[in-house]
Amino acid sequence: MKEYTDYSLLNHNTFGMDVKAKRYVEYDNEEELKAIIPTLSGEVLHIGGGSNLLFKGDFDGTVLHSAIKGIEELSGTQLSTFNFQLSTSEVLVRVGAGEVWDDFVAWAVDHGYGGVENLSLIPGEVGASAVQNIGAYGVEAKDVIALVEAMDLSNGQKRVFRTEECCYAYRQSIFKNELKGKYAITYVTYRLQKQPVLKLDYGNLKAVLEKNSQLSTVNCQLSIAQVRQAIIDIRNAKLPDPKVQGNAGSFFMNPVVSREKFLSIQKDYPQMPFYEVEGGVKIPAGWMIDQCGWKGKSLGRAAVHDKQALVLVNLGGATSDEILTLCHTICKDVKEKFGIDIHPEVNFI
Ligand code: EPU
Repeated sequence: MKEYTDYSLLNHNTFGMDVKAKRYVEYDNEEELKAIIPTLSGEVLHIGGGSNLLFKGDFDGTVLHSAIKGIEELSGTQLSTFNFQLSTSEVLVRVGAGEVWDDFVAWAVDHGYGGVENLSLIPGEVGASAVQNIGAYGVEAKDVIALVEAMDLSNGQKRVFRTEECCYAYRQSIFKNELKGKYAITYVTYRLQKQPVLKLDYGNLKAVLEKNSQLSTVNCQLSIAQVRQAIIDIRNAKLPDPKVQGNAGSFFMNPVVSREKFLSIQKDYPQMPFYEVEGGVKIPAGWMIDQCGWKGKSLGRAAVHDKQALVLVNLGGATSDEILTLCHTICKDVKEKFGIDIHPEVNFI
């Protein structure tokens, strides 16, 4: 366990905000977390890799961070403990919340287990994958999560959440809503496939694989390792590396609008990309921000990334106020041009 006071969070938020936590505690296992809980007072913030946070200033409370590690394939009695129904082509993998998400994806791909390859290179940690319901290239964490183990931060009791209890939706879960701040996730168990079924329908994924001349030559034998590599190539080409330029990935969520609203906008913008989803039509916020002329533009030391307008970047030394001003200006412009409210995906602390 590590514990510090007046601790700099610079290395714990990918936006690169140099703020301090009054108390910072990193625990290595559930027993340590249980022992910390009675000592908590005041505000508590549980962080993962800090890739979805914008600190507005110092945090006058306790920041908790999990260093629970381990990637373990479940078998025998462990399966019956959790009462899992498992088909012969499936495997269950229990992962510590403090594992780096992409290390787990690399592990799965190395073992030939399919399901998470489309989520390659998403920054952050395993615990946060279950809170944020991370998603990319046609796959969401909820598609592979079998259960989530968590500890109640009010009394140290453990609770196991079945996927259906997590109320997953696009970038949403019970842990971001009704139970926000109430539980610390300790382990997530994923259901992976020994005979992977590839999902290649999103955007330019197939085109990139074809360009790598893999799809045409091996077609059905395309491996999850090749898909992982293509996703890594796409992300590296489009998204800024937080180690080089502070950012938190997508800054906004893609809004879902009614069919009527979508059709009225489509009349003026026939080229507008869109996805049919439950409850309406999803329009990429990045496309709308781009149409507003914001791509590559800056306001003070905060800017809109020049290859993906959904991402706001810290040009170096930006204050949270500068980022928030840019955020509000963009929201206003999108509302004026399209009549649509867009909302940040990033959590403001
Ligand atoms: N587009 C533009 N201009 C832009 C950005 C996008 O015209 O500046 C267009 C693209 O050409 C495309 C459409 O908008 O037709 C969608 O763009 P993209 O495929 O890049 O995906 P996105 O909807 O902008 C979402 C996720 C990303 C994820 C990608 C791929 C959210 C909030 N973001 O972005 O997730 O990688 O899809 O699945 O849903 C993240 O969460 O940090 C993240 C990067």
